[in-house]
Amino acid sequence: MLLDVRDLQVEFHTREGVAKAVNGVSYSVDAGETLAVLGESGSGKSVTAQAIMGILDTPPGHITGGEIIFEGRDLLTLKEDRRRKVRGAEMAMIFQDALSSLNPVLTVGEQLGEMFTVHRGMSRKDAKARAVELMDRVRIPAATARVDQYPHQFSGGMRQRIMIAMAMALEPKLIIADEPTTALDVTVQAQVMELLAELQREYNMGLILITHDLGVVADVADKIAVMYAGRIVETAPVHDIYRAPAHPYTRGLLDSIPRLDQKGQELYAIKGLPPNLLAIPPGCAFHPRCPLAQPVCTTDEPPLYEVDPRRRSACHFWKETLDGAR
Ligand SMILES: Nc1ncnc2c1ncn2[C@@H]1O[C@H](COP(=O)(O)OP(=O)(O)OP(=O)(O)O)[C@@H](O)[C@H]1O
Ligand SMILES: [Mg+2]
Repeated sequence: MLLDVRDLQVEFHTREGVAKAVNGVSYSVDAGETLAVLGESGSGKSVTAQAIMGILDTPPGHITGGEIIFEGRDLLTLKEDRRRKVRGAEMAMIFQDALSSLNPVLTVGEQLGEMFTVHRGMSRKDAKARAVELMDRVRIPAATARVDQYPHQFSGGMRQRIMIAMAMALEPKLIIADEPTTALDVTVQAQVMELLAELQREYNMGLILITHDLGVVADVADKIAVMYAGRIVETAPVHDIYRAPAHPYTRGLLDSIPRLDQKGQELYAIKGLPPNLLAIPPGCAFHPRCPLAQPVCTTDEPPLYEVDPRRRSACHFWKETLDGAR
């Protein structure tokens, strides 16, 4: 197992109170495997990723429990200098907004090259040659000419390719991509996603793909973890989830994917809003919005029931949900 997150807990201490942003999350990723993490805004997808990368905003964020086992070591017990090395060379993160992640006053070649001068002690000339190679690899046309240009001279899609090149530079074992294509138009989204999937296969990396768009993950993910209010509510191999979700929240997410064969029809949306993390509903946090909710759901928090050996659902009525979907 490349990465094994176990029972992770993250709290934010704010003036209004303590927000449990991540409340017992467990998931794992193997080399060569893609895990898609799904869920509405505020469900804790990014905070979990920041905890894994060691870039959580502390304060106000605090990891209050759990383990993050990466290649057999618990990252939470590593000293900061060891942690920094892991973060630089063994895992990398790609963010939604390339323009704010890249330095506007350095050329793309200088920024890519820095990965090699700083981490690998290469000369500037060699580093620039590597930068051009990387730009080729992420299929930026005319790399030799464009290596001396600045980020604002590239389109959004090309900038996101540069971010991917930066993340890939040191050939990390794990990449976390947090909504990597959300800011792009649909056709460019697909191209960038394909590129990421291709590089992931070629280098046998683990990939955590965070998105709230179930539509994009069908082709690239091996398995899915669905988050709601800081918890995992369903995990399963990707095709099982598409065939028949075992949690009503997943069902709602699936039903809200726009479908080409139903153009013009009004899109289904899950009614209501995700809960305020300072006042998470008792029982199942999803019960106020759930079409299947029963009295027990308002009082008893569902554990992650085993649906089958590769699949879990935190719904008291997972069987009914599964049967209803089939
Ligand atoms: N810097 C912060 N200060 C206080 N609370 C925070 C901070 N960052 C995150 N949170 C809390 O953690 C919750 C989860 O945030 P997170 O960014 O992980 O959501 P997300 O699932 O990534 O959502 P999105 O899809 O919008 O990116 C937020 O709703 C918020 O309550
Ligand atoms: Mg996020």
